[in-house]
Amino acid sequence: MNKFDEISKLKEQIAKVISKVQTLDQLESMRIAYLGKKGTITSLLKKISLQSPEDRKDFGEQVNILKRKTSEEIDRFKSNLFNEELTEKISKNKIDVTLPIPESGIDIGKIHPITQVTEEIIEIFSDMDFDIAEGPDIENDHNNFNALNIPESHPARQMVDTFYLPQVDGETRLLRTHTSPVQIRTMLSKKPPIRIIAPGRTYRSDSDQTHTPMFHQVEGLVIDSDSNMGQLKWVLEEFCKAFFEVPSIKMRFRPSYFPFTEPSLEVDIACHKSNNQLIVGEGDDWLEVLGSGMVHPQVLRNVNLDPSVYKGFAFGMGIDRLAMLKYGMTDLRAFFDSDLRWLRHYGFKVFDIPSLSKGLSE
Ligand code: DAH
Repeated sequence: MNKFDEISKLKEQIAKVISKVQTLDQLESMRIAYLGKKGTITSLLKKISLQSPEDRKDFGEQVNILKRKTSEEIDRFKSNLFNEELTEKISKNKIDVTLPIPESGIDIGKIHPITQVTEEIIEIFSDMDFDIAEGPDIENDHNNFNALNIPESHPARQMVDTFYLPQVDGETRLLRTHTSPVQIRTMLSKKPPIRIIAPGRTYRSDSDQTHTPMFHQVEGLVIDSDSNMGQLKWVLEEFCKAFFEVPSIKMRFRPSYFPFTEPSLEVDIACHKSNNQLIVGEGDDWLEVLGSGMVHPQVLRNVNLDPSVYKGFAFGMGIDRLAMLKYGMTDLRAFFDSDLRWLRHYGFKVFDIPSLSKGLSE
């Protein structure tokens, strides 16, 4: 067999082999066998220089054509095979959307207790015709302190450990220490009658089992010409009954002090332990749940409202604390650890809540 025959034989052989290839792996083995470092075509290329001068050109040309054609053929096959394998994979993994949901269920995540409890609070106050107001987490010290009757020199400034931020245009800014500044923003932007709640994030430099540097509060504010303490007590009692889902609740209103209310009240609800479970609404122990009072006349003046025309009441409570009380969680820090096991245990199912709370009783 002359050397040119050798080339055409090889050509036929390659055509035969490639027609039998069925997988990408087989194709790759074939490429190595012919075009790899020790492949048949590669060794023929090495023989070009050994040819007699008169044969060298033709021989070289034919080996190079064979090399190019083989390589083109392999590429063509490769893309065909790739498409075929992909189509097969897709058809095998087809999802039948008509199949029932697997017994084990689909992991669709849970509602965080803070979100759940915030929604419950919103729903209860919405039933009482309160609007939702919002304010920014980054406040100025005027709204957070001064306008609320907590002046620079007031000892109440030391009551909280505040995260101060760099000044902007001479204005002291901070992470709001309570949601009360939303009272100020609302009274400056709306004419009475006002009836709002303002849920949101608040910040204080504090961390232990029941305190985290970031926590949540909800503020309440009612301003009208005839607002009075009887209304305040009624609103808080209706709220506590609806929130703790009890038909009646024993409450205690204790005189207290907040710079922005006069008089100020702290509100406790009765509770007791039964089988190591906290029962809310009755019993001989007391749980402090919120602060409240009649809006201080100076606060009204600070927002250009005449205290002889308008009166108001306000209240503030910790959402996280309410969540812990209602759903029996003991460590506040776990709320913000992002531990999925905790969330799966304490979280709420997305589709299981026809109504977030039972709302008001009537
Ligand atoms: N801002 C108070 C705090 O962070 C809570 C509070 C108490 C808000 C009494 C009020 C109120 O509106 O009347 O502790």
